[in-house]
Amino acid sequence: MDFKTAVANEILDALKGAFGEVEIAPADIAAALEIPPDTAMGDYAFPCFKLSKALRKSPMMIADALAGAIHADFLHKVESVKGYLNFFIDRATYAEKVLGLALSQGERYGADDSGAGKTVVLDYSSINIAKRFHIGHLSTTMIGNSLVRLHRFFGWNAVGVNHLGDWGTQFGKMIAAYKRWGDHDTVAAGGVDEMVKLYVRFNAEAEKDEALNDEGRAWFKKIEDGDPEALEIFNWFKSVTLKDAERVYDMLGVKFDSYAGESFYNDKMQPIIDELKEKGLLIEDKGAQIVDLQDYGMPPALILRSDGATLYITRDLAAAKYRKDTYNFDKSLYVVAYQQDLHFRQLFKVLELMGYDWYKQCEHVSFGMVSFGGEALSTRQGHVVYLDDLLTQAVHKARALIEEKSPELDNKDEVARQVGIGAVVFFDLYNNRIKDIDFTWERALNFDGETGPYVQYTHARACSVLRKAEALEKAAPDYAALSDPFSQDVVRLIEQFPDVLKSAVTRSEPSMVTRFAVDLAQAFNKFYYENKVMVEDGGVRAARLLLTDAVRQVLKQALYLIGVEAPERM
Ligand code: ARG
Repeated sequence: MDFKTAVANEILDALKGAFGEVEIAPADIAAALEIPPDTAMGDYAFPCFKLSKALRKSPMMIADALAGAIHADFLHKVESVKGYLNFFIDRATYAEKVLGLALSQGERYGADDSGAGKTVVLDYSSINIAKRFHIGHLSTTMIGNSLVRLHRFFGWNAVGVNHLGDWGTQFGKMIAAYKRWGDHDTVAAGGVDEMVKLYVRFNAEAEKDEALNDEGRAWFKKIEDGDPEALEIFNWFKSVTLKDAERVYDMLGVKFDSYAGESFYNDKMQPIIDELKEKGLLIEDKGAQIVDLQDYGMPPALILRSDGATLYITRDLAAAKYRKDTYNFDKSLYVVAYQQDLHFRQLFKVLELMGYDWYKQCEHVSFGMVSFGGEALSTRQGHVVYLDDLLTQAVHKARALIEEKSPELDNKDEVARQVGIGAVVFFDLYNNRIKDIDFTWERALNFDGETGPYVQYTHARACSVLRKAEALEKAAPDYAALSDPFSQDVVRLIEQFPDVLKSAVTRSEPSMVTRFAVDLAQAFNKFYYENKVMVEDGGVRAARLLLTDAVRQVLKQALYLIGVEAPERM
């Protein structure tokens, strides 16, 4: 069942009948089919202009001839209008076929196995150690999570990597501060906040006493050299940070397959540096080692500082190579804010210069800047909103609303969690990823209009209708009851779901799914308002219930793919 192909076949047959052999492939006809902007012009339109030259006839004449020749059961009518051939699919057949396919495929509706046997590595969230998880890391986390789910839906083997920011001189400073002013119990109790305090104090005191910086550097050197005490403290800082982060990941339903972060590559950079040298790419510049990228319009990639220290890009080169060797990926995605655009262009260029053809499989999935109330987030200036605070507030608000609107609900806490967090995640994934996002409490916690809770509510409403119908007598569906424009709008959206998902994967754009979910929820609510589902007529009722069931299933799947839960009662 594929109306496009069926229409194309009808056109081809009619062309042969009317004009003899024509030189056009069925696939080209299908590709030329347009979807008219207004359904009053049909479901598909075929422009006959393209055939005019080959057939030496005017488009109008061709369209007239074809319109007279095409008769098929699934077509309600075929019109010739100004050189276009407009196809009107029989409404009842259309609804029957689309709903039938969606419901028979169930949870797999919209998927195919185009990713079978292929591997994608996704680098996302990638938080920094000893920093609290703030909303600046929400987009990478949720876009990455959605892309993992979308790829798996299409059969890919998806490897989620949290490339932890756990390397750098700041960790030496933090240990120095801890040794001077910290103690185990305070950090254990205060977690990341306590580490940040130590770090802030260190920097303040280092302004007055330059010797402190040497102390910090010395501790970092110890970490690099594997000194047991340094490593013990450092690893402890790491586990405290991760425990904090994992609480947030649990709330969000996000998981990783690997936490191999920057420090993991400590012993894997030397081979890359040697290789760069062998390949004649490394040149000395004021004591530092760089790869010159001037020919490509970019500043040089700094590989080793003059003191021999490695850099962010050195670790990313080692990581890229390691991922290729370990996972043999077909695609490697980096979900990172666009501020790091240059970094990734440099990284991919160096891989290319090293002769790694698979640089083409690497892609920077960038996204816009996150601000709050119109102001850039800045840990240093104290303008920062922590993710767990935002999520907790959202859950509180949802809890209060549930208390007000559905006091009889059984699992209020669970639903409040699903709705509150769903609101924040949905908001984050609502716009095209490259657009900047400005969070405000009102917007992120808005439950009306084009929001997660609105879609969740629509899903719950569909569930409730279906529950009520369970006790009623079943009848054979009368699909003609779905011929009205409101039912048809819903059916058309359900038909488009597979294409929407395909585009979302190829463009790494979860917002296409988010938008789709809103469109479908709106169309269903209009349908519900205009058409009574629980009517006396068993056939009409059965058809409307099938449509309701398909909406329930597709909304649930769409929400799952963007990382939002779908409670059955709200
Ligand atoms: N930790 C970095 C940050 O928070 C992001 C790391 C992204 N991944 C990578 N392989 N460079 O900005």
